[in-house]
Amino acid sequence: MLDITDLRVTIGGRDILGGVDLSLRQGQVHGLAGESGSGKTMTGLAVLGLLPHGARATGSIALEGRDLLGLRPKELNRVRGGEIAMVFQDPATSLHPMLSIGRQLTEHMRHHLGLGRSEARARAVELLAKVRIPGPEEAFGRYPHQFSGGMRQRIAIAIALACSPKVLIADEPTTALDVTVQA
Ligand SMILES: Nc1ncnc2c1ncn2[C@@H]1O[C@H](COP(=O)(O)OP(=O)(O)O)[C@@H](O)[C@H]1O
Ligand SMILES: [Mg+2]
Repeated sequence: MLDITDLRVTIGGRDILGGVDLSLRQGQVHGLAGESGSGKTMTGLAVLGLLPHGARATGSIALEGRDLLGLRPKELNRVRGGEIAMVFQDPATSLHPMLSIGRQLTEHMRHHLGLGRSEARARAVELLAKVRIPGPEEAFGRYPHQFSGGMRQRIAIAIALACSPKVLIADEPTTALDVTVQA
């Protein structure tokens, strides 16, 4: 499904990743373990083409044989969120503060799946229920600040799952949450 070969990332001449090799098969859950600062997050961001400004990535990241490092921004936009999605570590920064969560869920699905407004809304409400947001119909029109940190992270998970991506990258998605929500 996903083949990462000799992925190297430098930022301002500093080596951030020094040759990562990793293969994911369909249906497989793959864990990355490493101390803080070892490059787990950068590996995920490289796959999505979301490395910080000034970063240089070499090697190859092939999704079903297609090298993502060679894609133009527009092509990468189609892959990102549609074929590969990521749940980020910090639920406070992964949602847009000024858009309702319904809009953040549906824009994504309309863009990638070509759903109409009402279909997208129905699927969004279904996803909110799936991640156990109470009163999903009402929650649809609310804004991120109206939810707790744990709910925001579950909403971010719903967004990541919305387009049934082939690859889901979860970057310590529960570390910022208290233990009852983690469970
Ligand atoms: N925006 C950035 N600019 C430059 N270096 C960064 C940036 N973010 C992280 N780094 C560096 O990249 C390295 C890998 O970080 P990261 O992937 O976040 O590690 P992990 O997720 O394993 O804790 C670290 O040395 C970190 O200091
Ligand atoms: Mg990290």
